[in-house]
Amino acid sequence: MGVEALPRTIAWVAQDGADGVDGAVVRLVEQRELPARLVFWDVRCVEELEDAIASLAVRGAPALGLAGAFGVCLAGVELLSGAGDRRHGSESGFDAASHGAEAFLGALEPLARHLAAVRPTAVNLAWGVEQALGAVRAAVVQGVSARTALAHAIAQAQELAREDEVANRAIGAYGAALLPDGARVLTHCNAGSLACGFYGTALGVVYAAFEQGKLAHVYADETRPVGQGARLTMWELTQAGVPCTLQCDGMAASLMAAGKVDAVVVGADRIAANGDTANKIGTYPLAISAAYHGIPFYVAAPTSTVDASLPDGSGIPIEYRDAREVIDVEGFSPDVFNPSFDVTPAALIAGIVTERGVYEPGEILQALSL
Ligand code: MRU
Repeated sequence: MGVEALPRTIAWVAQDGADGVDGAVVRLVEQRELPARLVFWDVRCVEELEDAIASLAVRGAPALGLAGAFGVCLAGVELLSGAGDRRHGSESGFDAASHGAEAFLGALEPLARHLAAVRPTAVNLAWGVEQALGAVRAAVVQGVSARTALAHAIAQAQELAREDEVANRAIGAYGAALLPDGARVLTHCNAGSLACGFYGTALGVVYAAFEQGKLAHVYADETRPVGQGARLTMWELTQAGVPCTLQCDGMAASLMAAGKVDAVVVGADRIAANGDTANKIGTYPLAISAAYHGIPFYVAAPTSTVDASLPDGSGIPIEYRDAREVIDVEGFSPDVFNPSFDVTPAALIAGIVTERGVYEPGEILQALSL
């Protein structure tokens, strides 16, 4: 099938010929159904999108950024139709018929704040929300109608989706250049096309190296507890025709000791100013193992994942998830520790691959000033 035939993970779909408002849905790949079935979910309101985000039907930092932007637009569609107030049983005080873009923005902001807080670790969710709100704010200054302001936000969100793909292809090209010929790459979680709008970050590096004929094999960590590696990474690599092998998380160090890994490439949910990086739980022990075995450990992420407001990784908010993700046996409820992410210290990272080039972790802020 090849990488180019992978599905778009998230897209705004509206009636033809309109400004993107009428009949709008956010079309998602329903990732909880993979690898058994490729199913799309047409999400019709922001509340439903929040459920999709919380339940991991859509997940992965760049895809969450797009979900944030599209979610603000969905909330806007609801406000214009009056459906939002009816559904939430609340009064936004917004009357589409008699109010302009400023009142629209005022009604949209609390809905946007709620959406941005659904998952705390990936900075991209709040970033995407802010990008769409920014378009509405700019429209308010222009004195346009609420509907036109919403159309601007939709256009901005769609532009983010286009930029996501361009950025991932650039990350792929920069990252592939770091790999030796015949590279055997180990990855964790799913930082692939399914975690983005299209193509992927860590798997973008894999796809670019594969296209160049320099990739021999990918080893995918299972990624307990939810199995993003086993279910999603193995599915998309197989679809793309990339040779791959699945192993349990605890087997990674043995693979390295056996001399089967040339590089580790992972994605990121939030990168602090000093290069400390939050990613799926189990990334940090992987970085320690790679350092012990003298294997380069790379982080691949767009610059939208950098949080310049945090000096180091100690301030990154870590999401804790339901115990039943770890063990779900009727009548048995042990105490469970289930953080969804860990923070890998910058000292263990050989380079951060962005769409603007490869940076030393401690110099990652330079990528933002380009
Ligand atoms: O809980 P998830 O599936 O959203 O976690 C995803 C990850 O940790 C990814 O590695 C990260 O978001 C980078 S995706 C390009």
